[in-house]
Amino acid sequence: VPLHFVTLLGSLRRKSLNRAVAKALPALAPEGVTISPLDSVGAFPLYDADVQDQGFPAPVQLMAEQIRAADGVIIVTPEYNYSMPGVLKNAIDWLSRLAPQPLAGKPVAIQTASPGVIGGARAQYHLRQTLVSLDAMVLNRPEAMIGQAAQKIDAEAQELTDTATRDFLARQLVALAALARKLKA
Ligand code: FNR
Repeated sequence: VPLHFVTLLGSLRRKSLNRAVAKALPALAPEGVTISPLDSVGAFPLYDADVQDQGFPAPVQLMAEQIRAADGVIIVTPEYNYSMPGVLKNAIDWLSRLAPQPLAGKPVAIQTASPGVIGGARAQYHLRQTLVSLDAMVLNRPEAMIGQAAQKIDAEAQELTDTATRDFLARQLVALAALARKLKA
């Protein structure tokens, strides 16, 4: 069965380490799996129930449709102050209010890249907790925490240059594909 995954990026900056990771993924996908990026979460307004009452903003609805149509989501995000960035949490909060809720039952893999040695591990565990609330099917292992990412990524060229990291992420994509196929069956 062919699968299609989408990437959800938690950084807005152009020369982002995490953006370079997300950009590398289509080439690392296993046979039968395609991967494309979702639009920027930067297009979402700050969550406000009064705004929601006027109708969901178009970027929120569009992303929800793209997630519903996908077989899995790969969240690629920095760690900010031991958690996920506000822009990512804001996007998740918006998506969580839709019916049907797009991440419910959806296979999700998490990847974090950081210049620090821990590679965003603390953000991953906050994000996992939030994804429990959304009833997403989060891939347990392998966990993809890319520490000392500035040495593994050419941010200027937006290229993931480190071969070991590329191989590791490719293995995680195989695991996500296996989870997605299992849940489909
Ligand atoms: C950071 N950074 C950071 N890194 C980390 O490993 N743990 C942390 O808790 C934080 N906290 C943090 C807070 C804020 C507000 C900023 C701006 C940065 C550093 C962060 O990992 C680094 O800036 C990355 O390069 C951000 O990811 P992108 O934008 O390069 O993908």
